[in-house]
Amino acid sequence: MKEIIRADHSGFCFGVREAIAKAEAAVREYDKRIYSYGPLIHNKQVTDRLEKKGVRVIESPDEAECGAVVIIRSHGVGKRFYEIAEEKNWTLIDATCPFVARIHDLVRAADEKGEQVLIVGDANHPEVQGINGWCGNSAIIVGNSQTIPDMEAEHLFVVAQTTIPKRLFEGILEELKKQRKELSVNHTICSATENRQQSCMKTAQQVELMLVLGDRKSSNTKKLYDISKKYCNNTYFVENIEDLPLKEVEKCNRIGVAAGASTPECLIKEVIANMSENTLENNEMNSMDALMDE
Ligand code: F3S
Repeated sequence: MKEIIRADHSGFCFGVREAIAKAEAAVREYDKRIYSYGPLIHNKQVTDRLEKKGVRVIESPDEAECGAVVIIRSHGVGKRFYEIAEEKNWTLIDATCPFVARIHDLVRAADEKGEQVLIVGDANHPEVQGINGWCGNSAIIVGNSQTIPDMEAEHLFVVAQTTIPKRLFEGILEELKKQRKELSVNHTICSATENRQQSCMKTAQQVELMLVLGDRKSSNTKKLYDISKKYCNNTYFVENIEDLPLKEVEKCNRIGVAAGASTPECLIKEVIANMSENTLENNEMNSMDALMDE
């Protein structure tokens, strides 16, 4: 008899679950095309399903007409986007994760006081670009301790991208202290990422084979794969049910399952059911509710 161990923290985080619920509610409420500014989450299964229901992804505000219904995803956006929404008379479905919205408030208040904002994170990540948009794009953005620029400001108001590793944040704070900077530090890293990484590591240490479920484009899922591989060499990336390495699974008795913050519950259930030789009802697999069901 096989034992399947699911990592304690796996699958949708709170912010992603809320964003999908809001998109679903909008689909039910508005009888017209809905735009999502950027893909709602990094998972093709979910975005394809939403697209079939009329949610179209746009990359620029120019792509949505006046009076449109537009969803802001959990990464959030800068202040300018809200101004454009008003100018174009959009109905906004704001799915900015509350943890990200809190950073926007902090940054806006610091900027109003004339403080220099420093964001620890990836300058190309939409969340970081959105945060920067609350201080007139004047933030210093630092991705790692080797790339800290020379800075005139003596006092820095520091925030972190929600999904960066704690160790990276702490390393950069240490470097800034060595430069004798006066720091206002805001601990804005979200625990969802850390929790998923910790429980993936714990699970990988106990099993013969590990499955990491999610989209290959999802950076948090890729990170889980790297962590798992470190502790269980027999780790497989499963993007959809076809990727399930059944022959390998058959050889093992203790199998671990971890999933990124953007991996839908229906994939997790489908994979577990396949290994347990159970079958899910077709209508459960097809229901969007199954994406959120925990
Ligand atoms: Fe929000 Fe944390 Fe998820 S910031 S979107 S709950 S990873």
